[in-house]
Amino acid sequence: MELKHRVMVAAAPLTAVALLLSACGGSDVATAIPAAATAIATVAPGAATAMTGAATAVATNVTGMTGGSGKLEMFSWWTTGGEEAGLKALYALYKTDHANVEIVNQAVAGAAGSDAKAVLKTRMLGGDPPDAFQVHMGHELLDGYVAAGQVEPLDALYKSEGFDKAFPQGVLDIVSGKGPDGVQHFWSVPVNIHRANVLWYNKTVLSANGITAPPATFDEFFKDADILKAKGITPLALGDKVTFASAHLFETVLVGTLGPDGYKGLWTGATKWDDAKVTTALNNFKKMLGYINSDHAALTWDQANDQLIAGKSAMTIMGDWVDADYKAKKFTDYGWANAPGTAGIYDALSDTFALPKGAKNHDNALAWLKLAGSQPGQDAFNPLKGSIPARIDAGKGGYDAYLQSAISDWKKDTIVPSVVHGAAAKDGWAQAYTDAVNTFVTSQDVAATQKALVQAAADNLK
Ligand code: GAL
Repeated sequence: MELKHRVMVAAAPLTAVALLLSACGGSDVATAIPAAATAIATVAPGAATAMTGAATAVATNVTGMTGGSGKLEMFSWWTTGGEEAGLKALYALYKTDHANVEIVNQAVAGAAGSDAKAVLKTRMLGGDPPDAFQVHMGHELLDGYVAAGQVEPLDALYKSEGFDKAFPQGVLDIVSGKGPDGVQHFWSVPVNIHRANVLWYNKTVLSANGITAPPATFDEFFKDADILKAKGITPLALGDKVTFASAHLFETVLVGTLGPDGYKGLWTGATKWDDAKVTTALNNFKKMLGYINSDHAALTWDQANDQLIAGKSAMTIMGDWVDADYKAKKFTDYGWANAPGTAGIYDALSDTFALPKGAKNHDNALAWLKLAGSQPGQDAFNPLKGSIPARIDAGKGGYDAYLQSAISDWKKDTIVPSVVHGAAAKDGWAQAYTDAVNTFVTSQDVAATQKALVQAAADNLK
């Protein structure tokens, strides 16, 4: 069968996209990836060999490569309801052209790749890579796997599939970079764009307490939070059993307090971490922590979201994979707004797939990358994953009201790169930042935390 989809490049509507990762500067290719951690991760049970029943499968040859045999081992950290639903839709589509390829769903539980990344590094260093793997666009990709010489360049794929014209320039700029050979290459295929700075709320809980609109500023947030707290409702649900969640919350507070330029400058050296605004951000965050659930350290982000669904909590601040979580849990009584202080700002990240050197099933992996970068692939995956397509020509049909608003915001908002999700800084810095924020959740020591953040920047901006 012939390739059925076509690359249709719309007139570049995304000037703002070029700003994504403008804060990130060039990739520090000389930076070695941090030593592999030895965390034992839970491998999600149940191989995905029989991906049945995905409604989105269509009988077209979207990869342009039929047949094949053997395996496709796909490595990710997508195990929660919406994450898995998106992944399975893509698997089902893959199976329509590659019925005899066994898909091995190597999904290592742990939000934001907390355990998966360590497992992957161990496997890479041990010469046992999967066939394809999930990796964030930006510094996580370029300063990690590319710098370490662990992934194959994808220039031929970008040419043959027209990917070099299918994605906005700002995206192309950060899935490419100089490799260890000193030459510029494309390194991974973006399947989506996620937004980190979303405040989700239970509509009935807010309206039943006389709150007619979600809070847009920190002052409004604290005012609403006081009303809710007085009624015995947790104002803000947090689940930071996996430490990314509180670091994620603070990231949105930094954006909301420093503004887009101030925030972006933190990752280039243009904004100093000892700036008074960082102190203000830490104080805003400290105050917010006075309104969270007491069992936050025992819950994952999606379990915290269950509290919102149950009406025990009113709001949560988390990425738009929450939209997919609601869909998977069939919860519809929710609304969304930008996290306090971040109106008109899109705190962005992107999931991409890369091809490790030494992949055992190279051609099956290439077919997977083709599918993930195609319009049918992106439109099967994203409506279920709670993200919007990275492609310019995708995004029509099947997207719910939140996602339609995100598609429109992505075209007009000011884009800033997420640090917790790999875009703004290399892994080592993101981890040092995450560690400092998590210590703060317990210590609430503003001065000591700011000092640790200053040190992390000094260590990583060299
Ligand atoms: C992010 C990832 C998203 C989502 C989230 C929670 O890092 O980019 O796709 O899965 O973690 O696990």
